[in-house]
Amino acid sequence: MIKQVSKIQNGLKGEIEIPADKSISHRAIMLSSLAKGKSIIRNFSQGADCKSTLELFKLLGVEINYLDDKTLEVLSNGELTSNSNNIYAYPCGNSGTTMRLVSGILAGQKFNSILTGDESLSRRPMRRIIEPLTLMGAKIEAINGHAPLTITGKPLQGITYQSQLSSAQVKSCILLAGLNADGKTIYIEPSKSRDHTEKMLQYLGVEINIDGNMVEIMKSELEAKDIDIVGDISSAAFFIVAALITPKSDIIIKNVGINPTRSGIIDVAKRMNGQIKILDEKEKSGEKVADIRIKYSENLIGTIIEGDDIPRLIDELPVIAVLASQADGTTLVRNAEDLRNKEADRISCIVSELKKIGIDITETRDGFVINGKTKINGDAELECYHDHRLAMSFYVAGLICEKEIAINGFEWTKISFPEFESLMNNLT
Ligand code: S3P
Repeated sequence: MIKQVSKIQNGLKGEIEIPADKSISHRAIMLSSLAKGKSIIRNFSQGADCKSTLELFKLLGVEINYLDDKTLEVLSNGELTSNSNNIYAYPCGNSGTTMRLVSGILAGQKFNSILTGDESLSRRPMRRIIEPLTLMGAKIEAINGHAPLTITGKPLQGITYQSQLSSAQVKSCILLAGLNADGKTIYIEPSKSRDHTEKMLQYLGVEINIDGNMVEIMKSELEAKDIDIVGDISSAAFFIVAALITPKSDIIIKNVGINPTRSGIIDVAKRMNGQIKILDEKEKSGEKVADIRIKYSENLIGTIIEGDDIPRLIDELPVIAVLASQADGTTLVRNAEDLRNKEADRISCIVSELKKIGIDITETRDGFVINGKTKINGDAELECYHDHRLAMSFYVAGLICEKEIAINGFEWTKISFPEFESLMNNLT
């Protein structure tokens, strides 16, 4: 589907509530399925990725019912069952979080399984979870390190694992395997990645030790509890950037999760002179949440985004590229090589597509460099390469292009944020 986007004249105005966090929605299904009893999950994501996780746990024998379009009831006896006497295939769709986290859960079961993914997911690297899980005693076969993953259920032992990557998916996979492994599992990462798994495990009564970038977990049982899911800062990011770069804008985004391991976009935008205020901070089911006010910011300046910043805003880098195009000076993004392993190679795709509309952006091995304060011409068709975050980032660029742009593949927004366009229309 091709979406035309044209310049808006009077800025973005008003208030919206951002839908549920995708990462937390996945974890809510997984952890309440592992807990014995009934859990109510409120404000569950309507994105296709989280529905993949939901359907997968139904296949694993958990009773999950929709009470309304965003409220779920999960009834579990704390144990998963194979859907068949033979090996059974469980589809993960486009969702890396589903495949990598569920691998950690299935590796220690008494049954065998196969995890499959769509074309994009089948191209994404899986050795990053296969290697540590194998050290724990798991048996996982892949095709050159890619899905489908054939998992032979085995008893697992705890390990101490020093990861080379800062990836919440790898960390969560190992912690979930550790929940069902003998002895202690210790995971250490170079920079702290999102800690929703740790926070939800603690909320559900699991004792874990956290010391800086180290997490330690033992075999544990979970308490079934109701979970209220906060809004997704990665979805809010498109509105944050849109308001910062569109003259006359002044918006409030309500109920945004501001967990410090995810709020890099706010710090970077402030560093760039963006006018952002955090209002009414509180906590929901162990996660920090707030309303955010954002105003058009005329005097944005370039910045360097690197090191510990990267995992705190990894999914926001495509839309940050659009933000940087409107900042005075140069913005440099480095140490972000893992962006090449997302739903698309986000480094080369951002660069090739933003160049088409006149943004001064150069690809590097591990990021990109943008020279800003560009008047964006538009008048081009941008390809989103089946990547939801690229589609929405290009839409935001379209709001300030001199001439209309077209985005090919806009329907991919359904993966994380089907409400994106209607919320944007509420603000214009
Ligand atoms: C996620 C972790 C990140 C992020 C992805 C969701 C998660 O991936 O990019 O969208 O829910 O744990 P990596 O762990 O591969 O960095």
